[in-house]
Amino acid sequence: MAIRHFLSTQDWSRADLDALLAQAAAFKRSKAGTQLAGKSIALLFFNPSMRTRTSFELGAFQLGGHAVVLQPGKDAWPIEFDVGGVMDAEAEEHVAEVARVLSRYVDLIGVRAFPKFQDWTVDREDRVIHAFAKYSTVPVINMETITHPMQELAHILALQQHFGTTDPGSSPGQVLRGKKYVLTWTYHPKPLNTAVANSALQIATRYGMDVTLLCPTPDYVLDQRYMDFAKRNVAENGGSLTVSHDPQSAYRDAHVVYAKSWGALPYFGRWADEKPIRDAHKHFIVDEAKMALTDGGVFSHCLPLRRNVKATDAVMDSPSCIAIDEAENRLHVQKAVMAALASS
Ligand code: CP
Repeated sequence: MAIRHFLSTQDWSRADLDALLAQAAAFKRSKAGTQLAGKSIALLFFNPSMRTRTSFELGAFQLGGHAVVLQPGKDAWPIEFDVGGVMDAEAEEHVAEVARVLSRYVDLIGVRAFPKFQDWTVDREDRVIHAFAKYSTVPVINMETITHPMQELAHILALQQHFGTTDPGSSPGQVLRGKKYVLTWTYHPKPLNTAVANSALQIATRYGMDVTLLCPTPDYVLDQRYMDFAKRNVAENGGSLTVSHDPQSAYRDAHVVYAKSWGALPYFGRWADEKPIRDAHKHFIVDEAKMALTDGGVFSHCLPLRRNVKATDAVMDSPSCIAIDEAENRLHVQKAVMAALASS
């Protein structure tokens, strides 16, 4: 039987995602469980983390399981991913051995591996997590590569719980249908991963919202793969997809504003050329004036967030900011995913 990984929400049906969200909501009400009793997960971090590491480790513990954190190249051997090459550089072992050995020890493997930011045609292949999925004999979970599916689930749960509370009687699966959702690019001094933006586009269209991708110029539109997923999701789930470069019209009457900074794909590897464009769009910051254009909209962000660069103190500290709820939900949704995969 094929192993069921969690690499992308697009690989999972709406019914599956709804079931995970329902289980996550149950874990939010009552955190303890035995679904991982006697089981373990290896968490491989090729990049830094605060929320992901903490919530996966605690989530495994709360379900009776055990997590082992490894940072290849730091506290574990550097890993080679090229196939058929002569390993005479830094890497001490190949992913073929790492994934197979870990599969003999643990029941689940989580991987965080960001792009290298030099060549998007290479980065978009997402080869680190696909290599783990290829060689592993246990389920692999995406802890953020070029998408961030755990953030997607945490985000949707936060929105369902926010709008569900104010709209009693609606089923969780339908409560977001028709909401106006703005995914806005924001300034950041460095070019960042497109993962959360790709993910927001996927999951917001999956849940039937009217989605506007707001970004400075056409160069900041996301990879065609994710634009195509979004279009397919709209066709299957209703809602709409619009690209805008005008904050005023994009924010008007929005119910949800989700912010993220990302680097423009055509400028991968030549960031000095992108910097003047990014620097010219610092006014994309989420502030009170823009939020006042919304229909009492909520604001969220995956975190970490640079205050007064991406969003103002006033927005972050306002009652309409649900970023902390979303961060809390990482714990609950990841427990749901681990429990589902460990029992599959
Ligand atoms: N949102 C998120 O994944 O946070 P960390 O990078 O701290 O894990």
